[in-house]
Amino acid sequence: MSEGKQLKTWTTSRIRACKGKEKIVSLTAYDYSTARLLDAAGIHLIIVGDSLAMTVLGYDSTIPVTMEEMIHHTRAVARGAPHPLIVGDMPFLSYQASISQAIDNAGRMIKDGNADAVKIEGGALRSETVSRLVENGIPVMGHIGLTPQSVKEFGGYHVQGKDERKAGKLLEDALVLEEAGCFSIVLEGIPADLGAEISGRLEIPTVGIGAGPGCDGQVLVIQDMLGMFEEFTPKFVKQYADLGDVMREAFTAYFREVQDGTFPGPEHCY
Ligand code: KIV
Repeated sequence: MSEGKQLKTWTTSRIRACKGKEKIVSLTAYDYSTARLLDAAGIHLIIVGDSLAMTVLGYDSTIPVTMEEMIHHTRAVARGAPHPLIVGDMPFLSYQASISQAIDNAGRMIKDGNADAVKIEGGALRSETVSRLVENGIPVMGHIGLTPQSVKEFGGYHVQGKDERKAGKLLEDALVLEEAGCFSIVLEGIPADLGAEISGRLEIPTVGIGAGPGCDGQVLVIQDMLGMFEEFTPKFVKQYADLGDVMREAFTAYFREVQDGTFPGPEHCY
């Protein structure tokens, strides 16, 4: 560790140790100034999600976002938030083609993006990738359920694991990912009772998004909880603020004041 560098408050082992003791509080972030605010609020874990494809870059799914874009945003978040654990999301087709592709790209996320861990989507199919990343010193967060990179396969953003067979498969996926070495697993878009059952069966903590209160922690996409992403709001989102309205009002007031000469006032002049 370089001299004078601050020690991380939230490490993967501390996140694991929350299991059964303290709920893990997580949000996504994509930029420096938001990351600073999350750090100050004591958020445990920040996921630089590939949801930035939709919320920040304006794509209609997470599919198009690139490794370079993910690294760029992860670096900015890591600069703003020295205390939370920073998880860099691995984008579509950056880890699926081969183990060596996964190691190369996950390594870049850690070395160039300054992430503390990476997140990859998928269940048992990803177990070898997870073990090899972990063996090579790259902590991995799993992600199962409504995994947005599979939207074309799912045919839309539909709740997963609704029948007994699919629920059983998700439970098996979670157990295999734990065995492979994940330090935590995101459970997305599954029935609340399944979220609770999987969480109860695992020794590692789950972090839920649309997976009910029985998960070991919760994560939300920050634009959703702040009311800034207005295209659609999933049922599982609780909006804690309406920043969309606050921003619109501020922009309108600025527009008016520039046009009528009220801004800048004498107090803003040198
Ligand atoms: O991309 C994302 O925002 C996610 C969330 C579930 C954390 O994967």
